Amino acid sequence: MIIQKENGKVLPTESTSQAKFKMIAKTMMGLEEVLADELRECGATDIELLNRAVAFMGDMKVLYRANYTCRTALAILKPFAEFNAVSDQDLYDKVYQIRWEKIMDVDCTFMIDSTTSGEVFTHSYYAALKTKDAIVDRFRRNFGKRPSIDTENADYKFNLHINDTHVTLLMNSSGESLHKRGYRQGVGVAPMNEVLAAGLIKLAGWKCDCNFYDPMCGSGTLLIEAAMLANHIPAQYYRGDNFAFKRWKEFNILEWKSVKESENRRIGQGDFDCEIWGNDIDMAVLQQAEKNLEYTKLHKDVMLFHGSFEDQEPPEGRTLIVTNPPYGERIKVEDLNALYTKLGDTFKRLYGERCEVWLITSDFEAMKHIGLKPSRKIALLNGSLDCRLLNFELYEGSKKAKKNVEAEENLQ
Ligand SMILES: C[S@@+](CC[C@H](N)C(=O)[O-])C[C@H]1O[C@@H](n2cnc3c(N)ncnc32)[C@H](O)[C@@H]1O
Repeated sequence: MIIQKENGKVLPTESTSQAKFKMIAKTMMGLEEVLADELRECGATDIELLNRAVAFMGDMKVLYRANYTCRTALAILKPFAEFNAVSDQDLYDKVYQIRWEKIMDVDCTFMIDSTTSGEVFTHSYYAALKTKDAIVDRFRRNFGKRPSIDTENADYKFNLHINDTHVTLLMNSSGESLHKRGYRQGVGVAPMNEVLAAGLIKLAGWKCDCNFYDPMCGSGTLLIEAAMLANHIPAQYYRGDNFAFKRWKEFNILEWKSVKESENRRIGQGDFDCEIWGNDIDMAVLQQAEKNLEYTKLHKDVMLFHGSFEDQEPPEGRTLIVTNPPYGERIKVEDLNALYTKLGDTFKRLYGERCEVWLITSDFEAMKHIGLKPSRKIALLNGSLDCRLLNFELYEGSKKAKKNVEAEENLQ
C-alpha cells in the first residue's frame, strides 16, 4: 500500500465510504426540477422534488460532486437525526442523547440555523438555543469542556428544522451559500443571484448550440454563468476550497480530489463555437462586468457593448436572449412602462424570428406594455420579489400579435 502525505499529514486511503445516505439540496422557488436534473448527472438516486429543495440519495462522492458542480443548488444538507419532540425539555433531552462526539470534536466550533412551524415551537431562536444547550452540556459532561459557537465561520453548520413536533437535524456540507461562486469582483446596483441566473439559463433550455445575448447585462452574471456552462467550468471552480464538508470527520481528501480533478478535466472540452454577448447603457456597470469576466478569464469568450438595447443588434444567427431589465425596485427608471414598450418594439424590429427571448420581471404592470403574448410564464422568486419569467417566441406575425394583445387589453 502506498501512503500519501500532504503537509506532513498522512492522507486517508481511497474510498472510506461508499454507503449511501439521504441528502437535501436547497434551491430557489421554481428551480426544483432543473436542480433535480443536475443532481441526476451527479449520480444521485431516489430523487424527490420538495418545496424549494430536492431530496436524494448518494454517497460522499455524490455529496462532493453536487457541491462542486450543481449550478442551481444553494446548499447540500445531510440529515443525521430525526425524532418527535412535544416540548422544549423533550427537545433538549432528545438532542442530548445524540452521540455528538461521533460527529465533531470538542475543539470544533459550530452554529445552528433554525426554522420552525406549528404551534409547539413558535420561536425558532429559542428552539436553536435549547439545541445548543443540549450539545454543549453533553460535551461538558463527557470532556469537561465544550465546543464554541461561531456564527461567522463555524466548522459545523447545523440546520434545525421543526415541523409541528417533527424535528430534523441536518449538517450543511456547503458552508457559505453556493451562490457565492467567488468570481464577483464588482457589482452594479441590482446584481442577479448567481443561482437564479444559472436557473434562468437552464429553464430557457439553452443547450450551448446557439448564441447567447443579454441586452441589459449589468455586471454580467447571466453572461458569466452562460460562459461557464458553455466551457464546462464547474459552478464552484472560482470558489477555492471553501466547503464545510472539508472539516468533517468523514472527509476523504483523496475522494474529493478525484471528484474535483475529473470535473476539471472537462473544462474547455465540447464544441461550443457560438457567440456570448452583453450590452448595457451604464458604462460604470459594464466596467464591473468586464472586471468579473477578466477575473474568470472568460473575457475572450464574451463581447460587451455599450449603449441602449434598441441600438444593438444581437449576434448573427440563432440567438437565445435571456435578460433581467430594471423592475423599478432597486433601479429607478423614470418611465418603466415606456421602457418595456421599447423592449417589445425592439424584439420585433431588431430581433425577429431567429431569436427567442426570456425575460424576468416583478413589475406585472410594466410587463403588459411589452405588447407581445408570452408563450410561457414561470413563477419565480428573486430574493423576496414575486417574479415571472416570460418566454417570447418571435415569429413573422409578432407585429400582428402585438396589435391583437393591445386590442384585447383595450377591451378589458
Ligand atoms: C436589473 S439590472 C441587470 C442586472 C444584471 N443581471 C446583473 O446581474 O448585474 C438592469 C440593467 O439594465 C440596464 N439598463 C436600463 N435601461 C437600459 C437600456 N435602455 N439599454 C440597456 N441597458 C439598460 C441598467 O443599466 C442595469 O444594469
